[in-house]
Amino acid sequence: MRIFGRHFRTIWRGDDGGVHIIDQTRLPFAFEIAVLNSVEQAAHAIRSMMVRGAPLIGATAAYGIALAMRADATDDSLARAATLLRKTRPTAVNLAWALDQMVAALSPCPPGDRADRAFSRAAEICDADVAQCESIGRHGLAVFEKRFGEKGGKGTLNVLTHCNAGWLACVDWGTALAPIYKAHDAGLPVHVWVDETRPRNQGASLTAYELGAHGVPHTIIADNTGGHLMQRGQVDIAIVGSDRTTSRGDVCNKVGTYLKALAAFDTKVPFYVALPSTTIDWSMSDGAAIPIEERDARELSHIIGRTETGALETVAIYPPESAALNIGFDVTPARLVTGLITERGTCPASRDGLLALFPEHARAAA
Ligand code: MRU
Repeated sequence: MRIFGRHFRTIWRGDDGGVHIIDQTRLPFAFEIAVLNSVEQAAHAIRSMMVRGAPLIGATAAYGIALAMRADATDDSLARAATLLRKTRPTAVNLAWALDQMVAALSPCPPGDRADRAFSRAAEICDADVAQCESIGRHGLAVFEKRFGEKGGKGTLNVLTHCNAGWLACVDWGTALAPIYKAHDAGLPVHVWVDETRPRNQGASLTAYELGAHGVPHTIIADNTGGHLMQRGQVDIAIVGSDRTTSRGDVCNKVGTYLKALAAFDTKVPFYVALPSTTIDWSMSDGAAIPIEERDARELSHIIGRTETGALETVAIYPPESAALNIGFDVTPARLVTGLITERGTCPASRDGLLALFPEHARAAA
């Protein structure tokens, strides 16, 4: 993606040997690069959400292993690094997937070769993510074009999205936003309703930032507005990302996704989920089994914003004595999902649908 006229990925190895990331806790007000030099710093970046979004969490974990190998390439160090990173965030399955990839690549290597191999395997994981997201964009574009045709090919295609499933959540392109970028670039008149996505506001601060940087028309809405817009015919299609999709097509994504899917079902608005295959948990069939992250209630009770003087400040927004519950994700049952858009194409949200695209997982699929 281009920012200030320059192409950026969300994570890369710098000439200084460190792992460079865009610090997403500073966006949209400040574009700052942070440098990770140890596995502990990589774990902190994931936990504190300097990096977030399922594919990027996986990519950062892969580089975290590489940083651990640079410091100490023993079996013990590899096992400790994998354990530390695995505990950072529980829901996005890309984390476990990337760690398993790294451990499988490094275990057979002599310790002297491990650091180089780890950095190159992490770079391969990033490159593969970019290719998958680009491909999701192409398949999603076909879905958007069909939908635009259904509404007579006139006016604007109004797309609703929740949270941030754009390039900031991945290495480049994004999942749910990739078709939007492809559509905009192809001249399809697309406009995006951006759910604010409380409590951390990934929609308002990250999705809006990305879309603005790319010149895509968009409007931020409070999270509870989508149902009303759907009832009024102002949403043509909804598209979100996923942190974990089960083998039967249940989709776990940022909390609030389920309510949007229910409203879309009731109002007959097509509801799509865009995901790379690294987000599919073939070992799990029922979405109810997915571990759901619960985060610090301070993310609800306090909010960061820019004051009129330009300073970033944190303020409390409700009575300190009130209890708060901060659940990070929810599960949308497959029956509410119109289709899954993957790097291999679009399929029904079902076991048969997924296996038609990924037959090599037939044995593993729960
Ligand atoms: O808590 P976050 O910001 O990591 O949650 C991110 C999401 O819910 C995204 O929709 C999901 O990771 C898909 S990203 C391509």
